[in-house]
Amino acid sequence: MTLPLQDKKIVLGVTGGIAAYKACGVLRRFQKAGCEVRVVMTASAQKFVAPLTFETLSGHEVVTDMFPPRRTVKTRHVRWAEWADAILICPATANIIGKAAAGIADDFLSTLILASRRPLIFAPAMDYEMIENPIYRENRKKLESFGHHFIDSETGHLASGAVGPGRLADESVIYSAVESILHPSGALSGVRVLITAGPTREPIDPVRYLSNNSSGKMGFALAEAAASRGASVTLVTGPVSLETMPPVDRIDVSTAAEMNDAVLARFPDHDVLIMAAAVADFTPLHPSGSKLKKQGEAVGLKLRRTGDILKNVAAVNDGKIVVGFALETDDVLENGKRKLKEKRLTFICVNDATEPGAGFETDTNHVTLLFPDGETDDLGMLSKSATAEKILDRIEIIRGGA
Ligand code: CTP
Repeated sequence: MTLPLQDKKIVLGVTGGIAAYKACGVLRRFQKAGCEVRVVMTASAQKFVAPLTFETLSGHEVVTDMFPPRRTVKTRHVRWAEWADAILICPATANIIGKAAAGIADDFLSTLILASRRPLIFAPAMDYEMIENPIYRENRKKLESFGHHFIDSETGHLASGAVGPGRLADESVIYSAVESILHPSGALSGVRVLITAGPTREPIDPVRYLSNNSSGKMGFALAEAAASRGASVTLVTGPVSLETMPPVDRIDVSTAAEMNDAVLARFPDHDVLIMAAAVADFTPLHPSGSKLKKQGEAVGLKLRRTGDILKNVAAVNDGKIVVGFALETDDVLENGKRKLKEKRLTFICVNDATEPGAGFETDTNHVTLLFPDGETDDLGMLSKSATAEKILDRIEIIRGGA
């Protein structure tokens, strides 16, 4: 399979922040995708990571100085600007963003930025006070108005010890953002992906229901990531308070039965199904048509099982990729393996509801992928967007090998 960014030339501009060490992983991610990467470091970046690290990883000399001793300088910045298919500044400090916005060219990287006509992509990382500063925000707006790109930082623990926005986006999010800028049709172009998200609500009476705490964030992150890779996405969602972006075809449902019908009706027209929804397993046997009045000290509620959507899909699946989720509190891997088999899934994404930062309502998740051949892939604690990118990477690989 030819990778979407195969043979693309990326200049990686590393500026001085603690996230500079993460640029090593970013460089590797682009190399794995078949890109050639050359690195420029600012003077402050070299305080955090040695140029030798990037030289060894990239296999090329790292530019650290506008005027290196004993070398003919000529117009090296112009040559680099022409060589690159894209310039990725990662991490991008408030300083380089401010200089770029003001047109200052006082070192190699800022001169290269000014000389380049290629896509310029900033992956900012800084403390939350800086990212929220109106001066920074104005600078970003100005650069965006010139068509330059920004990859939003994540919210999380920052080097200062604070928790807030400003943490460098995960390398998979950075990769996929660059991919969609350089290859707008996307690696999943033409692929139809059906995704479910959120909880279901099972009515007890007109004003009460049984449900769960699913926020829908994981399913929405998957929908957004698949759409940005060029997939045509249908999102069947239970009641959540999240907005969808326009390229996603959103279908709102409420009960497990409605979700089942919506998925089964659309499954034949899709190539991939990802069931991230937390579907209720039981529904009241006799929901009341009018509001129930309180009677006595205790009340019984009779429930019946809902249909298992994935099992219903398995009965009609002729070889499409079907991915399930499982949120467990005990025997996480064992239960995940059982569900993988019973629901005849391509793979299952399991997570442990008892682990802080994983599961419902959080912005992060810690997912392990389980495959029918026994392979397990622990993705580690990541933002839900980054988790979504990794899941889609797997789907791309499976499709490529099909
Ligand atoms: N699922 C489904 N239909 C249901 C319940 C769950 O398709 N009625 C899907 C979920 O969307 C998820 C996977 O099955 O992708 C596993 O869901 P989970 O609730 O963990 O599993 P259950 O089969 O309901 O097992 P249990 O409740 O016993 O853990």
